[in-house]
Amino acid sequence: MLDKFITNGNYSFTEKGISPIPMLFRRDIEITKKVKKAELFATAIGVYNLYLNEERVGREYFAPGFTSYKSTLLYQTYDLTNQLLQGKNSICASVSGGWAVGSFVFTRQNRVTANRQAFAAELHLTYEDGSKELISTDEKWWVCQNGPLKEADIYDGEVFDASMKQKDFVWQVATKEKVKIQPDLVLDDREPVVEVETLNPISRTKVGDEYIFDFGQNFAGVVKFYIDGKEGQKLNFRHAEVLNADGSLQTDFLRSAKARVAYTCKEGEQEYSPEHTYMGFRYVGVSGLLEEQLGSFVLEAKVLSSASKRNGDFSCDNEDLNRLQQNIVWGGKSNLFEIPTDCPQRDERMGWTGDIAVFAPTACFNFKMEKFLKKWLRDMRSEQIITGGIPNTIPSQGYGFPATMPTMAVDFWGDACLMVPYAMYMAYGDKSVLKENYEMMKSYVGACSRWAAFASFGSNRYIWNTFHMLHFGDWVSPDVPQMEQWQKRSPWTATASLYHSAALLSKIAEILGFEKDEKKYRELSEKVADAYVKKFTDGNGKLLEEFQTAYVLPIHFKMFDEETRQKAAKNLAELVKKNDYCIGTGFPGTPYILFALADNGYADVAYKMLFNKKCPSWLYEVKMGATTIWERWDGLDETGNCPIGDDGTDLMISYNHYASGAVGDFLYKRVLGIEPIQPGYKIFQVKPVLGEELQEAKGYVDTPYGKITVEWHRQSDFTIRVSVPEGCKCKLVLPNGVEEVLSGGEHERKSI
Ligand code: BGC
Repeated sequence: MLDKFITNGNYSFTEKGISPIPMLFRRDIEITKKVKKAELFATAIGVYNLYLNEERVGREYFAPGFTSYKSTLLYQTYDLTNQLLQGKNSICASVSGGWAVGSFVFTRQNRVTANRQAFAAELHLTYEDGSKELISTDEKWWVCQNGPLKEADIYDGEVFDASMKQKDFVWQVATKEKVKIQPDLVLDDREPVVEVETLNPISRTKVGDEYIFDFGQNFAGVVKFYIDGKEGQKLNFRHAEVLNADGSLQTDFLRSAKARVAYTCKEGEQEYSPEHTYMGFRYVGVSGLLEEQLGSFVLEAKVLSSASKRNGDFSCDNEDLNRLQQNIVWGGKSNLFEIPTDCPQRDERMGWTGDIAVFAPTACFNFKMEKFLKKWLRDMRSEQIITGGIPNTIPSQGYGFPATMPTMAVDFWGDACLMVPYAMYMAYGDKSVLKENYEMMKSYVGACSRWAAFASFGSNRYIWNTFHMLHFGDWVSPDVPQMEQWQKRSPWTATASLYHSAALLSKIAEILGFEKDEKKYRELSEKVADAYVKKFTDGNGKLLEEFQTAYVLPIHFKMFDEETRQKAAKNLAELVKKNDYCIGTGFPGTPYILFALADNGYADVAYKMLFNKKCPSWLYEVKMGATTIWERWDGLDETGNCPIGDDGTDLMISYNHYASGAVGDFLYKRVLGIEPIQPGYKIFQVKPVLGEELQEAKGYVDTPYGKITVEWHRQSDFTIRVSVPEGCKCKLVLPNGVEEVLSGGEHERKSI
């Protein structure tokens, strides 16, 4: 039982906004018999890395993983059989504050889970002679807090003194720790953060006393450097996503995150890479380097991510669109990081629910997401409050208001409890994710409808306009400049969200065989749709207050009858044309606007919007050299400066936010044309929607039955090649409307 935690009993820290001094635990053991098997179980309150005889054990970062610690703490197992030496061995664990004890969220709260770090381990030894031995964490372990790792903080980075001599380490006897939380200890089932690739700088400049290295790509990760150093030489590494006009690092947008590595050299050759922190960056500024060291100094970057397994890809004959797809993938790599985060660079990196709610279908196309999201949904279930509300960030335990607002039902953000499992179900076909989360969904939709009905009468009970300032509304919509204005649109977004959640829940109830629920939530959704039409439209497909999201949601969610939907789509198309084909949607509308247009007779308008390069648009970012998806459509103006002033968000400007990359869903489902009809693609459709801007597209999607590939091109005629996994059926719809059902195998069809 892995519950014997140890700590440094003499250590306490109370300072706000910082992380604790890292602890180094050590146990020396002597192996005198031949070992048949050596297995080590370990976990920590904080973030730990394990070393055996000074060699790192395992290649995963941030063990034991980020979970809702009060309910679940993961533990890891390590097979040390081959690494243990006959004779003396030393087992070490370096434990920093991580998310549990260190400072986290933009309010920089610390000691949220425990007052200091703790570590627990068990080494199970089985000898060749059949005897067994158990070594657990106890007072035979040592702890040191003046080791080389001086500071480690998720946001602030690391301070490391390599010049420290081992003889100067002060070791004290470790003390037992009574950990105040009582989580379930669960064998590590996360998709761990690992190094997914290495990047090399593409250029180096000098600004002031800093050498600025450009990695040519924005991403989440850490630096790794090699230097032939001088004893006591101090190097400082700063990180940024963009540069100022003078070529210096723009770090204001990191807000309170120091995102630095301060390193003191020992004499001679050495290399270093942080293991307790990460940064979101493209540029690194290095100071403290001597001119003569430049030739041999090597700087690399390790790209870190939990999204290490691809599930699909898309490409076409337009390089800008290909770059957009790559930016979406990089946004995923950077933010599918232990938990689904909003961004990897500033003092957030939190599990904002709304961001993954809208991005989940795209994430499931690009990466294998089941393990990663199932683990996160477990945390969501554990944090739902009794009245059905869901915190806006998961994990959230302990951070609370004002970091994440009071826990209640919040449209689109809380909807993640339905939207994420449903996206997974459609992509991978496993019903268990619906079952596991069904009670949470029901309780959440109950909360939504109660909030909507609060202090309202008649059909207004189905208009969700309660406490709109506690919602995010049309978040980051570029057609209104102030945060307050996005939030003021929440009566529209929340009412559409209530419809969508109720309708989705009704569908899920049907899948799971709950007939009464199917009817109950269908009826609820119908009432909400009627109320939306009555309150916000003229009854004839025209919004009384017109903005893109207000049209997109009811059109795409099918809240209007067929005839009204056609009229509404026409009005949306007009609105988009008037806006010069620029995007006007925030988080809620962005994933669906191109579907709302293309599926209702306005594919040409959808394509013009997709290919638009005027700000705000997806390809404007590409034109401006973006290598990831921006949080704000107007993150940089044409001159390369950030035009965003005081808009109520406190410099909420990130260049690596995946939310509006939700357009990836359209690239797969409409441009390439692959869409599941039955969950897991047992039956799927291939129906490319053509636009004059493209001549060819190709891609693939992995399914539980095998790989689907699609490749189409057109010159004078249209040719498509589809490979259908054995056991699946594909409904192929050619652009001329001809339909055919294909079985497993390779197929090629042509049409005029
Ligand atoms: C985050 C968003 C998040 C939002 C909620 C921001 O600070 O970066 O992506 O969803 O807050 O309002």
